[in-house]
Amino acid sequence: MIRKDESAPLGDMSAEEFRRSGHQLIDWIADYLNEMERYPVLSRCRPGDVRRQIPGAPPAQAESMDRILADIDRVILPGITHWNHPSFHSYFSITGSGPGILGELVSAALNVNGMLWRTSPAATELEEAVLDWLRQMLGLPEQFWGIIYDTASISTFHALAAARQSLQGWDSRKLGLCGMNRRLRAYASEQAHSSVEKAALALGIGLEGVRKIGVDNEFRMRPDLLHQAIEDDLRAGWWPFCVTATVGTTSTTSVDPVAEIAPICRKFGLWLHVDGAYGGPAAVVPELKWVLDGCEAADSIVVNPHKWLFTPIDCSVFYCSRPEVLREAFSLVPEYLKSSESATNFMDYGIQLGRRFRALKLWMVIRYFGVAGIAARIRAHVSWASELAGWIDDDPEFERLAPVPFSTVCFRAVPKGLDGQPSEVVDRFNEDLIEAINRQGEIFVSHTRLRGRFTIRLAIGNIKTTRAHIVKAWEVIRRQCSRLLEERG
Ligand SMILES: Cc1ncc(COP(=O)(O)O)c(C=O)c1O
Repeated sequence: MIRKDESAPLGDMSAEEFRRSGHQLIDWIADYLNEMERYPVLSRCRPGDVRRQIPGAPPAQAESMDRILADIDRVILPGITHWNHPSFHSYFSITGSGPGILGELVSAALNVNGMLWRTSPAATELEEAVLDWLRQMLGLPEQFWGIIYDTASISTFHALAAARQSLQGWDSRKLGLCGMNRRLRAYASEQAHSSVEKAALALGIGLEGVRKIGVDNEFRMRPDLLHQAIEDDLRAGWWPFCVTATVGTTSTTSVDPVAEIAPICRKFGLWLHVDGAYGGPAAVVPELKWVLDGCEAADSIVVNPHKWLFTPIDCSVFYCSRPEVLREAFSLVPEYLKSSESATNFMDYGIQLGRRFRALKLWMVIRYFGVAGIAARIRAHVSWASELAGWIDDDPEFERLAPVPFSTVCFRAVPKGLDGQPSEVVDRFNEDLIEAINRQGEIFVSHTRLRGRFTIRLAIGNIKTTRAHIVKAWEVIRRQCSRLLEERG
């Protein structure tokens, strides 16, 4: 029997309380964004520090909003690594923006599930319209149809799934891979993001089903090696089905020669997917349009507005020139989801059913900054990265390890004291250097390994970053390098 508890109030927070807490929270957000530089970029928490402050059991009774908000300062903020900080230079320095945050707020308030057109026509139609805007901004031809997924990893998963669906002679949708007498093979460069292999894992293709292609001295996929690999695989009984070219690789932002890779895909009938998760947005800048050269021949392209288009995570745009194949791969409509309108139902084009209204924040970002405003910000990031590359080149104690086509700089320290030392010693020095830089909290950089060498990576992409922050970053790096050398004696 259900017990009645007449004293417990039901329903949501009152409109008055929502207004009061909402205003309080907007003030809190405005102050947080404005005073960002008070915080160390990288959280100083140790594992367990946050968890220890959270009660082990949920509150039996309601708590006041004031108390909850106070805990954001006390418990949550110390455990935040500030991706909004203008000196966040790690990984790809992604950033939200005022209009993007407000877009998220509206989207949370509307709480739309855009699975079908009828479950909110505005969610579907705004997504279609805004992705057509973005397509024009990137200079992609009209045949590219777009959909928003959460991340580039999921976009690439859908690319490989569509590529598998496009195979002639095997109905993978009906039969899966069981009983297939040839193993599928996908191709990507040694520098491609791990999401290609994750997609292969998820699709039952297996890690051996991804063949890594060697790169040239600027970390770009070598088309001759790709061609050779496909021929060898065909002879050995593999079934080549997909190539992922990357424009803006994760480690160095190198750009695979898509215009040379596309004819190879055409020759062997392979799906061409382009990973422009980071590099794609650069095409909004007229003089950087070359980044998507050759992409008009692609079957699919992923571009992440949450990486370099000032849109809060998550928002990944997947363009496909053969959306009917994607639909064949994923459309499955049970009785309870049947609808009669002749309109796009985005649930037909992917694995997820429920979907957030992400187009709203992208729409607000594009409208607020305008195409010229977005291009100006990306252009500035690229020019500061190029300036930093010049300072590194002019300093005999540092060495640049990759070209800088966009806004990420790869380098390492090679101070005089380490002349002639084995490479492990230079690596260890740079590992210690990065550790010292990040512990200190003024800036946050990350690393990669290039041709076996431990490499410091400094990425520029935050909307609040100015040239002065890059000057400061270079100063911090040099200061920590000198300090470390002194300590070594
Ligand atoms: C080139 C590239 N592709 C894909 C990804 C994966 O992105 P996401 O986190 O959106 O899955 C990344 C992440 O940095 C990336 O650099």
